[in-house]
Amino acid sequence: MEDTILIVEDNPTLREGLCEILEFEGFSTLTAGNGQEALDVMATQLPNLILADISMPVMDGFEFFGHVREREDWLKIPFIFLSARSDKPDILKGKKLGAEDYLVKPVDHDELITAVRSRMERNEQLAIVQLRDSYQSSLLMLANAIELRDRYTRGHVERVTMYSLAIAEELGWSQDRLEIIRFGGILHDVGKIHVRETTLRKTGPLDDKEWAEIRQHPQIGADMIKEVAYLKPMDGIVRYHHERFDGKGYPYGIGGSEIPIEARIVAIADSFDAITSNRTYRPKLTFDEAYLEIQNCAGDRYDPEMVDAFKQAYMKTRFAQLPKLS
Ligand SMILES: [Fe+2]
Ligand SMILES: [Fe+2]
Repeated sequence: MEDTILIVEDNPTLREGLCEILEFEGFSTLTAGNGQEALDVMATQLPNLILADISMPVMDGFEFFGHVREREDWLKIPFIFLSARSDKPDILKGKKLGAEDYLVKPVDHDELITAVRSRMERNEQLAIVQLRDSYQSSLLMLANAIELRDRYTRGHVERVTMYSLAIAEELGWSQDRLEIIRFGGILHDVGKIHVRETTLRKTGPLDDKEWAEIRQHPQIGADMIKEVAYLKPMDGIVRYHHERFDGKGYPYGIGGSEIPIEARIVAIADSFDAITSNRTYRPKLTFDEAYLEIQNCAGDRYDPEMVDAFKQAYMKTRFAQLPKLS
């Protein structure tokens, strides 16, 4: 769908000129002769960007801008002031009010299009980042709530995600692939919601029934997320993070490249965190001891190529100062 731009300008010749330029560049336009008319237009149709003159009869550009920013659903519409006056007080006032841009008339074709496009792009990027952040915080909240049921694993999900990201970055992965790791890491143990708390918190060895319960969590987790389209790409991590490279893992017993590569990464991060955390059934290892332990298991538990990436990632930071999940 083409983007719609609302042009608010009292001079009809100028208004037509702006319309022509923008329509020539593939935008749809809406027009108004002053702020009040613009508000009337916006009551029925929302533009993707507003271009408004400052001095106009009935309602000037500053007052109009104030009204636009008052409404929550209009708050995110990019706003560019347009004025014949190039005097500083006006420009400063516009900027203080928080308008994104300020164009001085007469506006040149390229200048106008560049300003409009860059405002639109920035807005789109912001919307994507905000959406991603809200997904991330909701999923993290869910994962942390599940994790709280197990007293040994506080912070596990976040650490596993950070370690996994550090390994994947060594492989030079794109942002999109790193996103799969990020969300997959956060979600990898969601299936534990179905493991009884008595099993999770048990201090002695687990009996067969309890083991069976634990071994189901990857599959249960994968079933939990399967209806959410956005989370489909994370299925591999959730479902296969306890498989081993030699095929002796659980619950499916698949091996080698049958295991999705993202799951082979998370498996290393998951073990690294488990063996460096306090558990009652065994003493924890230091980071450097765990680093050697992971290498010892290359080829049986873990994919040797992923272990190489892990080694490089570890050597860089020793996993001590990884950025927190924001
Ligand atoms: Fe797990
Ligand atoms: Fe885990």
